[in-house]
Amino acid sequence: MTTILIVDDEPSARETLLSMLEHESYSLETAKNGAEALEKAERLHPDLILLDVMMPHMDGFEVCRRIRSTPQLAEAPIVILTALDDRASLLRGIEAGADDFLTKPVDRAELRARVRTITRLNRYNTLMEQRENLRLMADRAVTAQEQERRRISRELHDDLGQALTSLMLEIRNLQESLPVPQAELPERLQALHRQAHEISVKVRELAQGMRPPLLEALGLKDAIQAYCAEFSRRTNIQVSFEADEIPASIPDTHALTLYRVLQEALTNVVKHAKADCVWVDLTLEGRILSLTVQDNGCGFDKEKIQPGSLGLRGLQERLVIAGGVFKISSSPVRGTVVMAQLSLPEEAPEAREAA
Ligand SMILES: Nc1ncnc2c1ncn2[C@@H]1O[C@H](COP(=O)(O)OP(=O)(O)OP(=O)(O)O)[C@@H](O)[C@H]1O
Ligand SMILES: [Mg+2]
Repeated sequence: MTTILIVDDEPSARETLLSMLEHESYSLETAKNGAEALEKAERLHPDLILLDVMMPHMDGFEVCRRIRSTPQLAEAPIVILTALDDRASLLRGIEAGADDFLTKPVDRAELRARVRTITRLNRYNTLMEQRENLRLMADRAVTAQEQERRRISRELHDDLGQALTSLMLEIRNLQESLPVPQAELPERLQALHRQAHEISVKVRELAQGMRPPLLEALGLKDAIQAYCAEFSRRTNIQVSFEADEIPASIPDTHALTLYRVLQEALTNVVKHAKADCVWVDLTLEGRILSLTVQDNGCGFDKEKIQPGSLGLRGLQERLVIAGGVFKISSSPVRGTVVMAQLSLPEEAPEAREAA
């Protein structure tokens, strides 16, 4: 039996939701405030929580955060019900850990469809799926690493190896033909110099292929800003970028992970969203570093992603590997929000003393 917990302070709102969901084979429970919601969630382990935002004492965001920080409840699907159809509350909801949103007044058909999708998998299936996903991810990470090694080895061998061999042969030729007539010398030295220069260009290209040069040169915040500006110029999509100050000491892997999230999210915006505006926010709150990319485009249905699509899955994998969180929320009205969050490691004691 699927248990759904309805949390709303207004009796009439609870009644409306109850009547919309009755006749389906759900066991429906209600709570009239945040405290009761937490108590019932812990006792009943609902398969879905429908959570009103505007409640006195403890609002829906806070209830959501507390549920997410309770280990036995951390996986419970939460749909936030909000009359506030604005970007700020959407972002707050995602940050608090909500899985989905419904705007009040709730539409009966939409509510029922959403609830069915979310509760279709029972908890056991979800767990098994997560375990299988982790296994696939680990496999894929190893395969990707192998492929990358083979690519680098091929380039080292076919390109650099051959260029160096030919340079050595030229030097040997020159040695063997000593003394070279004075008139030929500048030209032959020039040819050697040209070959050495070509090799240095190849080395630089190979190194750049492994790490984005912008990120290396500018640091995360400025690299994101530069990438957004270039994206906007190239696509004519307006990008608004806001960022907190980010310390230069953040781990390289964190910077690279968020930079890749930006690249894929913006590529998806051009490929799929039909948007004309994108908002990119980079924030640091305490030790939590977050990047959100939101567009005002057509949105998409997460259930309908094709098996061959790898972009978003790849990001999900990157974030799991980096110990972070990756979330997507999408609707035809609000467009798509992609969010990646990573926590910075504790400062080393020396760094604190020096500060
Ligand atoms: N910002 C967006 N707006 C609308 N639809 C999107 C957006 N981002 C992703 N999608 C949808 O989600 C699907 C999956 O995206 P994903 O990045 O995983 O794959 P892809 O872009 O199709 O291919 P690739 O593997 O090259 O990234 C897309 O095919 C598209 O339908
Ligand atoms: Mg993509």
